[in-house]
Amino acid sequence: MYYIGIDLGTSAVKLLLMREDGKIENVVSREYELSFPHPGYSEQNPEDWYRQTLDGLKALVSVVDPKEIGGISFGGQMHGLVALDEEDRVLRPAILWNDGRSIEEVRYLNEEVGKKVISGYTGNIAFAGFTAPKILWMKNNEPELFARIRKIMLPKDYLAYRLSGSFCTDYSDASGMLLLDVKNKCWSAEMLKLCGITEDMLPKLYESYETVGYLKPEIADSLSMRHDVVIAAGAGDNAAAAVGTGTVGRNKCNISLGTSGTIFITADSFCVDSNNALHAFAHADGHFHLMGCMLSAASCNKWWMDNILKTDRYAKEQTGIVRLGENHVYFLPYLMGERSPWNDPMARGAFIGMSLSTSRADMTQAVLEGVAFATRDMYEAAGSAGITPERTMICGGGARSPLWRKMISNILNISIDIPACEEGPGIGGAMLAMVADGKYSTVEEAAAAIVAVKSTCEPEPELVKKYEERYQSFRKLYPALKTVYGEL
Ligand code: XUL
Repeated sequence: MYYIGIDLGTSAVKLLLMREDGKIENVVSREYELSFPHPGYSEQNPEDWYRQTLDGLKALVSVVDPKEIGGISFGGQMHGLVALDEEDRVLRPAILWNDGRSIEEVRYLNEEVGKKVISGYTGNIAFAGFTAPKILWMKNNEPELFARIRKIMLPKDYLAYRLSGSFCTDYSDASGMLLLDVKNKCWSAEMLKLCGITEDMLPKLYESYETVGYLKPEIADSLSMRHDVVIAAGAGDNAAAAVGTGTVGRNKCNISLGTSGTIFITADSFCVDSNNALHAFAHADGHFHLMGCMLSAASCNKWWMDNILKTDRYAKEQTGIVRLGENHVYFLPYLMGERSPWNDPMARGAFIGMSLSTSRADMTQAVLEGVAFATRDMYEAAGSAGITPERTMICGGGARSPLWRKMISNILNISIDIPACEEGPGIGGAMLAMVADGKYSTVEEAAAAIVAVKSTCEPEPELVKKYEERYQSFRKLYPALKTVYGEL
């Protein structure tokens, strides 16, 4: 049998077809537009997600007998607000995870209601990208639209709804709404009240590996698929990526270098970082995790290559970088503001330290290192919570660069295990569908059977030392610039 993992990303939907023994048969990708209607705003049209997913599915299944497909599941960009009216029409473009408009609502939740109270209800504090502040933003700024909301869902849940008719979500993704009592895995009545919504507007909660329904017969027919194709709830993209890299069970770590950058640490039972610098969320394996998220990671390099250097030869640009640990140029990667650890939607990108001898390669190096240093900031936040993983898995588009992996390994002083395939959320989605269809009895069992490590990148003591000095300078830059950002 074959299983499909749908990674609903920010720049594209990536679909992956996997045999139940883990062999990847096909991967296809379909892009869609991302719009920034004001600085700091970030929106997408849910109809584009659905249309491109269907188009991708046709190409994906063309390489096998579609009747052999047993199930579909998802890893989806988290936190996005999709609001439907009573006729299931999308009320406005989805407000995405990296949208910073809800500054006032975050202030209200964290300062007026209070971080302690909010964290008591949910296990987390408010960040601009989370769903609840965006619901409040709609209430405050688009009251007519807000009054017409009948259903609220997350991006991947919109796909599940269109494909199966089931109004559902999973605990990992629901954790990022700031509406879930994460510890007790139920909606928080207090948070719903604060946001002016009712429970019937929210999807039914499932574990990521549970069946929520079946592919609609008309869609199955159009793809020549059977009518009993299982749809599993799926997970937020980071939890799905963790599944896809075998980051399940306890005390495991995964770093994702996608549009966003995350550090994801698994836990057996619910735990909160007392500073709330890390998110305390449910995991797709039925347990929990802590996660730090930076809003711009591989997207910094993409911006630098595509928009500024105007080249698509990413690997070639990196061949000129030879003096690791000696760069005098620093880059702050806050192109969309920053979540972990600063929680500052007003922060912005910056190059610092250039001189007349600075080269193009130095600046490219600074971009890659800036993302790695900011990953170290999140690793330090985990350290303050008493967690210091000595090795990690890695995934996401940026993980394909050996140079970037080497920088991260040495800047964090951590061993990096490189999986055979870096398409984490897609693999994880397919694995969740396999568990829902009974091919494996647990997510851990599926991971043990499917995930393979290709090689390991070890830190080098000399380079670790050089980078440690650079990091100590890097960490002073944001606090020095913080007040200026407010004025910009
Ligand atoms: C996690 C987060 C991002 C998005 C990217 O909290 O906001 O990683 O999930 O798709």
